[in-house]
Formats: sequence, structure tokens, C-alpha cells
Amino acid sequence: MSIGIERLAVYTPQYGLALADLAAARGVAPAKYTQGLGVQEMAVAPPWEDVVTMAATAGARVLRAAGVDPASIGMLLVATETAVDHAKPVSIFVHDLLGVGPHCRTYELKHACYAGTAALMTAADWVRAGGARPRRALVIATDIARYELGSSGEPTQGAGAVAMLVGREPQALILGDESGTYAGNVHDFWRPLGRREAIVDGQHSVDCYLIALAGAFQMYRALERPPFEPDEAFQDRVARMLYHTPFPKMAMKAHRRFAELDWRASHARWAQVEPRLEEAAAQSYVELAAPALTAVSRIGNTYTASLYVCLASLLEAESRMLTGRRVGLFSYGSGSCAEFFSGVVPTSAPRVSDTGIATQLRERTLVDVPTYERLARTGDAGGEPAAGFAGEFVFHGVRNDRREYGRVEPVAARASA
Ligand code: HMG
Repeated sequence: MSIGIERLAVYTPQYGLALADLAAARGVAPAKYTQGLGVQEMAVAPPWEDVVTMAATAGARVLRAAGVDPASIGMLLVATETAVDHAKPVSIFVHDLLGVGPHCRTYELKHACYAGTAALMTAADWVRAGGARPRRALVIATDIARYELGSSGEPTQGAGAVAMLVGREPQALILGDESGTYAGNVHDFWRPLGRREAIVDGQHSVDCYLIALAGAFQMYRALERPPFEPDEAFQDRVARMLYHTPFPKMAMKAHRRFAELDWRASHARWAQVEPRLEEAAAQSYVELAAPALTAVSRIGNTYTASLYVCLASLLEAESRMLTGRRVGLFSYGSGSCAEFFSGVVPTSAPRVSDTGIATQLRERTLVDVPTYERLARTGDAGGEPAAGFAGEFVFHGVRNDRREYGRVEPVAARASA
């Protein structure tokens, strides 16, 4: 029985900031951000949006595109590390806004950037456990990456949500059966209660990511069937590699580590590759990893959603060429837990490849640095949306310690009114 992602929809806020402008304002060489980190632009969330409204907009769009009745969703999982309450889950607000029925298992998941994958795997297992029963889950990863203004993490911010229908008719990605996992308690990135911005030990976080990648991939590689030929590498079996991408250079570093580990594990292949390792790794990166980085280089880090922004972007750009082919995926969440897995792009993928990313990026507005700083300082205040708002739900603010949300008409409906 095939289980996997039936369809995806992405939502990213209407505002973006060019990293060259941020660099100029911080007195940093623009190339450090645009080439050193590989980020061109980052999404900026206005105060009338939060993880609930972004998740609900992505969720509404995927349900509508797939023609799925919200009441038929039996499990709604929302992954975020930007929670809006210590007890009340983001998922129940989203459940209400989407009109999902009462007979639904719903909760919020947290494990830094890994939670989106935790939710996807939990949903897939739930569908699998249902046997022939018609189970369908809605998984949404939604986050706003925030660091202190002026800090070294600042150019690695971003915002967005990815909604995925998970079920037995996977038209976007058929999930493989095996996973390689790796967990370990590290202090690379965390956000103590009461703080809006994350604390990060930047260089350490890069090292922790790479250690977790090695651990998860080596476990996964050992499970791979059929066994490898003496000179065969795992890379030969995948058309693309997707990584959790806090910034594109991180995916490049990850791919470099992955490629070497993979080749070293095959003695005959390693003997061929070792004399020209850097050249081979660079070529492998361009072929396998770079194609999935188009959208993240313009949206920035979306934490739990980042890996799935890469998947959505890849499907929009290449689903026709990738049909019937396998892709590898690596998810990392600080703290830490990581998972390496794979999936096959089904022949139906071109029919569901419009995830909304390209359109939203084309239509969004780039703001200047003073506007970005004002929006960042205003933070989670709520309010009424400005002209050009692309979302479908709005965060009005907090009254009597309760968060209040509402629906706005979809842009298409507003335009035709
Ligand atoms: P930094 O320390 O200011 O930057 O911050 P740097 O000095 O390491 O420079 C960055 C790169 O730019 C380097 O390239 C420089 O050489 C290059 P590399 O050597 O690494 O290949 N560079 C230049 N290139 C061209 N022209 C120039 C120039 N100058 C320098 N003029 C850091 C970088 C990533 C540490 C910082 O942005 C940060 O702390 N970000 C947040 C943490 C993060 O994203 N960590 C990633 C791994 S952990 C993770 O992914 C989990 C996470 O998503 C959270 C979660 O799980 O929830 C963060």
C-alpha cells in the first residue's frame, strides 16, 4: 500500500526583505549574506499574521486544491516552534478556522525544526495502521524564525507554512518504508520560555547539524535494500537530495558531508572519487541538492517547514522530469533530533505541482530596512491587514488574554468582487 503526501500548499507572508539591503544597513559586505550564506531575500511576517494564520491559510489552500472536505480529516497535526500559548495548541485554532469536524485527533508538535517531519511520520503511521480504512491526515508545519536585530542569526530569519495532505493516494510523494534517525541532547539553538527570539550558538549548531546528518544517514544507508554493488553509492539511487535549510549554504555543507560519507562507505567508489573529491562533491551538489534551494533562498528559514518548502519548490519546478524517480530527504531539529528518509515522485505529481510558492514570491512586496525593523519590533501585536494582504486569516490581537482570529476573503474572491 502506498502512503505519502497527496498534495502540498505553501503560504509565505506578503513582505520580503532583500539581504543586500540588510547587509548595507548592518555594515556587512552583501556577499557575506548572498554568497556566504546563500540567502537572497527573507520573508517578513507583519503583526496581523502569526503561525496560526499562516497555517490556516496553507491548510485552506491545500484542502480547496485537493477538493477535500475539512470534515473528512481524521488527524490534524500542526508543527511549530513558535507556539502562541504554553497550553492551548496552535492546532485547535487552526482546526476551528478550517472547519475541521469534531471527530479528529489534533495536537501541536514541538521539536525545533524537526517537528514537521515528526508530524509527517506520525500521520503516515496513523494512515498505515488504519489498513483499508479511508484515513486522511492534514499536517501543517508553520514557523517564524526570529533572532535579535543586528545579531549574526538575523540574516537567517524567515516565515512560512506548508500544509500537506497525508493519505493513501500520494500524488506528490510516496514515502519510503525506512528511516534513519539520530538524537542527542545538545545546546545549539533554543528559546527559553518568555523569549521571542531564539538563542543560538551558531557555529556549534552547524557542527551539531552535520553530526546528526552523519548519524541518521549512516543508519539509513545500512537499511537500504537491495544491497549496494561494490562501486555503487546511495547517490546513484536518488535524483535529488533535500535538506532542512536554515540558509542555502547549510544545505551545501550538508551535501558535502553526505556525499563523502556515502562514497567512503563504498570502497571501490571511494578509490575512484578520492583523488578528485572536491570537484566530485561540487558536481554532486549542483546536480542533486542545488535545484531544491530556489524558494528557500528567497524565503529564509521557516524552521519546521523548511524541508517541505524545498520539496514544494522542487515539485513546482521539476515534477515532470522527476516522475518515477526517488528523492532523499534530511530533517534536522536543534536540540536535537534528525531523520533521513526518502520518497518517490509519482507519475501524478505534475497534476498537483502548483503549491503556490512561485506565485506568492512573484507577487510579494519587498520592504526597506526601517519598515522591516518596525514590523519586527511591533511583533505579535495583531491588527488589521494592510492592502495587498495575501493571506486568508488574520490575527486581530489579544483580548482578555485570548487570541482572536478572523477570516478575510481570499485574494481571488476580493479581486473579482
Ligand atoms: P556568522 O558567524 O556571522 O558567519 O554567522 P560566518 O563568519 O560563519 O560567515 C558565514 C559564511 O559567509 C562563511 O562561509 C564565510 O566564509 C562567508 P563558510 O566558511 O561557512 O562556507 N563570508 C563571505 N562570503 C563572501 N563574501 C564575504 C564573506 N564574509 C564571510 N565578504 C551563522 C553564520 C550561520 C552561524 C549565523 O547566521 C547563525 O547563527 N544562524 C542561526 C543558526 C543556524 O541557522 N544554524 C544552522 C544549523 S542548526 C539548524 O539548522 C537548526 C535551526 O534551523 C533551528 C531549529 O532546529 O529549530 C537553526
